[in-house]
Amino acid sequence: MHAESCTYVIFGATGNLSRIKLMPALYHLDVANRLPKGTKILAIGRRPWDQQKWLAEVHEMIQAKAKEAIDEVVFQRFCDRLYYHQGDIQQEQCYSELANTLNDKANKFPKNIAFYLSISPSDFGKVMEMLSNQHLFDEDSGWRRVIIEKPFGYDLDSAQALQKRIAHYLTEEQIYRIDHYLGKGMVQNVLVFRFANVMLEPLWNRNYIDHIQITHSEELGIDSRGDYYNGSGAMRDMLQSHLLQLLTLVTMEPPVSMEAESLRDEKVKVLKSIRPIPKEAVHGHAFRGQYAKGHINGEKVNGYLQEDNVPANSVTETYASMKLYVDNWRWRGVPMYLRTGKRMAKAQSIISICFRHPPLQFFRDTAVQCMNPNWVILGIQPEESIRIEMTVKEPGLEMRTRPSSLDASFRNEDEQAIDAYEDLLLDVLKGDRSLFLRFDEVEYAWRIVDPILQTWAMERDYIATYPAGSWGPEDSRLFDKEAQYWRTNLTPECK
Ligand code: BG6
Repeated sequence: MHAESCTYVIFGATGNLSRIKLMPALYHLDVANRLPKGTKILAIGRRPWDQQKWLAEVHEMIQAKAKEAIDEVVFQRFCDRLYYHQGDIQQEQCYSELANTLNDKANKFPKNIAFYLSISPSDFGKVMEMLSNQHLFDEDSGWRRVIIEKPFGYDLDSAQALQKRIAHYLTEEQIYRIDHYLGKGMVQNVLVFRFANVMLEPLWNRNYIDHIQITHSEELGIDSRGDYYNGSGAMRDMLQSHLLQLLTLVTMEPPVSMEAESLRDEKVKVLKSIRPIPKEAVHGHAFRGQYAKGHINGEKVNGYLQEDNVPANSVTETYASMKLYVDNWRWRGVPMYLRTGKRMAKAQSIISICFRHPPLQFFRDTAVQCMNPNWVILGIQPEESIRIEMTVKEPGLEMRTRPSSLDASFRNEDEQAIDAYEDLLLDVLKGDRSLFLRFDEVEYAWRIVDPILQTWAMERDYIATYPAGSWGPEDSRLFDKEAQYWRTNLTPECK
């Protein structure tokens, strides 16, 4: 698939996502000569800015993310692609003027158009309706693609309602639902690790694997996102989307090909196989907590209830964990533990696969004390790594052992990490939807978490707390066995 030149129309271009992700990503693609010739970027914003002011703003956005000074020659080339369209997205006028601009006689703008809706999901339907009224989704002269960000609804019902509205204006092929985790290099490497190396495949099942766990922890709190976050919480914000996606990649069957539909078919099969959690079993399968005040990197920080725009009696969870079972031939009986939290001890995302314990009798009469199971540890961020932990003999006269690890480093020092959005924005130009979500993925993901959310919504009097800067509340009751515990280290731990 090759990238075709297009007009990127960005709604909400002056907002946070555009500032910290979209504009820097488009600029980096230009620096790497990956934006097709003639590609234009039309920013839509309400602020009364002229072209010059917009270019100065974009310069600032890019500089804020850059490690070094911007190359002004390259930036000038990028500026030639940029336009600012002032308008209020609630008003019809914004769209009629947009249609006039895009259809200008001089053919300044390529006829393939990608609309990036970096706006509140509550505006998706309305904006699409207005674009459609102006015939901006008609594909007579070029393709039309629409990119939307999560959250896709608030629960299963609202996601289905949103989809019904969207489907009125667009075909599934035109919709690009972003889960930015799928654009992360190491997440894609999970597929390569599994399917390009034959060594582990025979072991990747219930016969050899004891359990799988995925932890995404953040040091950051909710910053200025109180309004959004308080209505969402960690289960919706991270588990329903990003972490379930990671789980599908680790557990799915090999797809027929890397082509979008094959890949998405396999992911959906995993989501469909997840054993539903009955409402009466929610407490055995899920746990929630909220950060209280504490310390992050030696600095005092507020508790969640002291953050801006958070009601004093909020029971919104900033930590959520859950246990799932994938009831299929490969995984039946293997618990999958997922957790995420804000204001935790360390910012990291890791997938840890714990193998079954080896038989111990062999070492019965020796000094062997530390006998760990094998682990495969996939570091997603900040460190991108793949490690396989083995037990080895300590040098010396005694029969003692210790854990050691085989390291398959992913990135050489001179190879730079690419932001997930660069990859995804380029895929839109190529029409490659393999790293975007199909609606049934979203739907099945809601089906999994809905019973938990409904139960929590009824329990409005109490939520466990954890001090900011800790590893979260005590939720070990989720584990099936005493020997199971949350992994926090990328390096071997002797238990
Ligand atoms: C977003 C969530 O989707 O993902 C945020 O809304 C979260 O709350 C973020 O912090 C995490 O993404 P990343 O790429 O920083 O791990």
